[in-house]
Amino acid sequence: MSKQRVLTGITTTGTPHLGNYVGAIRPAIEASERADVQSFYFLADFHALIKCHDPALVHQSTREIAATWLALGLNTDNAIFYRQSDVPEIPELCWMLTCMAAKGLMNRAHAYKASVDANLAAGDDADLGITMGLYSYPILMAADILMFNAHKVPVGKDQIQHIEMARDIAARFNHHYGEHFVLPEALVDENVAVLQGLDGRKMSKSYGNTIPLFLPEKQLKKSINKIVTNLLEPRQPKDADTSTVFQIWQAFATAEQTAQMRQAFSEGIAWGEAKKQLFELINDKVGDAREKYEALMANPKHIEEVLQIGAEKARAHSKPLLEKVRAAVGIKKIQ
Ligand code: TRP
Repeated sequence: MSKQRVLTGITTTGTPHLGNYVGAIRPAIEASERADVQSFYFLADFHALIKCHDPALVHQSTREIAATWLALGLNTDNAIFYRQSDVPEIPELCWMLTCMAAKGLMNRAHAYKASVDANLAAGDDADLGITMGLYSYPILMAADILMFNAHKVPVGKDQIQHIEMARDIAARFNHHYGEHFVLPEALVDENVAVLQGLDGRKMSKSYGNTIPLFLPEKQLKKSINKIVTNLLEPRQPKDADTSTVFQIWQAFATAEQTAQMRQAFSEGIAWGEAKKQLFELINDKVGDAREKYEALMANPKHIEEVLQIGAEKARAHSKPLLEKVRAAVGIKKIQ
């Protein structure tokens, strides 16, 4: 029996923050240790071009995200860790899928529709600033997934629609050209924490409320001090369940530490003290990885080598599959 294949991509825009760590990176690294699963994790740099036209940022983010996953101990012997653009079979498959994907299906994609709606609300032309990259984004994502016949795709809720589109496209391809692709399923873990950011909303780069994962100690402390709290004084009881400080604490603490902090809140711990303890907890948890991260960032050659090994492993899967798919659609040598 071949192993279940789990695949997920990380778009290379931005610097990894605590929310990414808790919501995606930590569970992925844990899952990659399972012996019954073959995981594929990749840096979605072609996807980055949809949102970001600054070459320096795309490149820097790719490097930071790779260094982050490696520093946190991703086991690259178990997991296949690669960069999307190192696998040329993906964009080729993307084209073949594009020729099978219904335009009407793409018209319904949330990300595209949100841009159209924003344009119309502003009284602009519906298509203003919308590239074909944004429009076709779900097809590239389908190619990422189908290329490795992934069974499960761990994603946030916002991505479920894209996995359904990948299934749709795969089913249509299979129906027309024969069974080539596994129909993937989204894996949305309800237990994984969605971390709150500095302002109490979901921690997200688009809200500018993030705490970067590997800030140097002093800056980490400063950043944690910026978490918005209410005006309750020391010794006044505080509600743990509505507090961002507590919510972040919980994502890093053991059950016992969480119970202790809950108790401290009800006994009126001062905000300054709670934040100090939160800083110490996080600093303790990420300290070793931060050192590794800094060493990796200072040695980009090593990061590149690891990615090249990953690309080779990925292509051991993608090349033979693409070969079959090419033949299936009639792209083959004349004999
Ligand atoms: N679109 C995903 C996101 O923004 C990233 C991504 C690209 C992805 N390709 C993928 C996720 C394939 C899962 C599978 O989060």
